[in-house]
Amino acid sequence: SNTVNTSMSHYWKFFALGVGYTLLISVCSVFFGFLTGTLLAFMRLSKNKIFHAIAVAYIEFVRGTPLMVQLMFVYFGLGLFVNLPALTAGIIAVSLNSGAYVAEVIRGGINSIDKGQTEAAQSLGLSSRDQMRFVIMPQALKNIWPALGNEFISLIKESSIVSIIGVTDLIYQLKIVQSDTYRGVAPIVVAMVLYFVMTFSLSKVLEHYEGKFNHA
Ligand code: ARG
Repeated sequence: SNTVNTSMSHYWKFFALGVGYTLLISVCSVFFGFLTGTLLAFMRLSKNKIFHAIAVAYIEFVRGTPLMVQLMFVYFGLGLFVNLPALTAGIIAVSLNSGAYVAEVIRGGINSIDKGQTEAAQSLGLSSRDQMRFVIMPQALKNIWPALGNEFISLIKESSIVSIIGVTDLIYQLKIVQSDTYRGVAPIVVAMVLYFVMTFSLSKVLEHYEGKFNHA
């Protein structure tokens, strides 16, 4: 007879694949988000009014609209011009979103450094580039690094939205397991626990390095 094995352990490969995709999207997006965010932060801090205005507009607009609609815009909008796989669209959208949040993290880190530090660096005769490089940034990174870790954790959770365009992340896999097994709740519980294992273990790893960083 045709019986379906409805035990969750039977479907471990689906969940493992989902975890893999979720981590892939989060890792790529925190990386590209960091690059975008760094660029935006320096644009926003720059004396060039045009760079400043572009950065402010981008940051405010992206933070003021839902990631869900940005994702749809990238997938269906860019999809009109280029053949864009859902995974690529997902990584682009999450990265562009993350960039706006990371920009504020970096700007905050830089602004938190006391003005006296810049003045001291100036009095040593350092160029404004070297002031940033040797005096401001090394101190600012102490605040930026832990916040970037938090952004990584946020992305593990927030990236779950990519399932709506068909990226085969953990949420997408949970839905497949639901329809295969006719079980509504068990796959949700498994996915929930797996998300927690990812974020909790990542936060423990980051805490460990944060400790090392502060004592260096
Ligand atoms: N869920 C919220 C939204 O849709 C927050 C996104 C947070 N993004 C981030 N990169 N931390 O806009």
